[in-house]
Amino acid sequence: MIIARSIADLRQALAPHRRPAFVPTMGNLHEGHLALVRQAKPLGDVTVASIFVNRLQFLPHEDFDSYPRTWEADCAQLQAAGCDVLFAPRENDLYPEPQAFKVHPDPLLADMLEGHFRPGFFIGVSTVVMKLFACVLGQTGGTAVFGKKDYQQLMVIRQMVRQFALPIDIVAGETSRAADGLALSSRNGYLTPEERQEAVALSEALRQLARQWAGSAPGERAAPELQAVEALRARGWQPDYLTVRRRDNLQPPEVQDGPGTLVALGAARLGSTRLIDNLEF
Ligand code: PAF
Repeated sequence: MIIARSIADLRQALAPHRRPAFVPTMGNLHEGHLALVRQAKPLGDVTVASIFVNRLQFLPHEDFDSYPRTWEADCAQLQAAGCDVLFAPRENDLYPEPQAFKVHPDPLLADMLEGHFRPGFFIGVSTVVMKLFACVLGQTGGTAVFGKKDYQQLMVIRQMVRQFALPIDIVAGETSRAADGLALSSRNGYLTPEERQEAVALSEALRQLARQWAGSAPGERAAPELQAVEALRARGWQPDYLTVRRRDNLQPPEVQDGPGTLVALGAARLGSTRLIDNLEF
């Protein structure tokens, strides 16, 4: 595996290739990331992953400084998963001057749910992803793989690629889960052993929400959402939202929308760790 620490090194490494398949990450890799790398492998003639902890997508009180940096383990795992090129730019290579020019996603999609609770988050994500795309896929186009675990992020990136006519295919990867159903996430590492046992309650709450929503009459569909929030709160969580949305635009469902077109999304804090998850139904 070639490790490129600058844009110039990356361009040199990619010069012989016609169609990279790319998996962007912030490192601290787990099986979920590696599954995306394995999924990317047959989609291009070179498999590229990036590791870059993107300051722009963290709010001032969030965990940018303490975000786990696990370089050696990440490199070993990427190599074993079949990654050919790792792009790990230094901050001043990707942002050599303050990044004043930013990508502002559609507020209708990006200012709700995660964007409501983490204002500016999707501006930071879209800006860095646009820049990573320019570095990795800018010469050739190609494919990029994003996990469904960050469902709204996937939709924002899809819309960005479509509206800017970027020559990039966005492919979605299924969420990898632990044996008990907890969605794998770099932030699971923050959980205490007791919290780790409890953490599966978020995916269970989403399953229950989807079941109850599907079983309720159109006029009574607010109740399952409130119940899901209250059920988690009663277990000691601080929920931000548990809600059912249309898969195509993340808007609240219309009366005629039914299972097969919907997704239940949730975000909640357990102790000091904020977890997100979702379930298509
Ligand atoms: O999902 C992530 O890890 C990040 O948001 C991404 C896409 C790598 C951008 O920093």
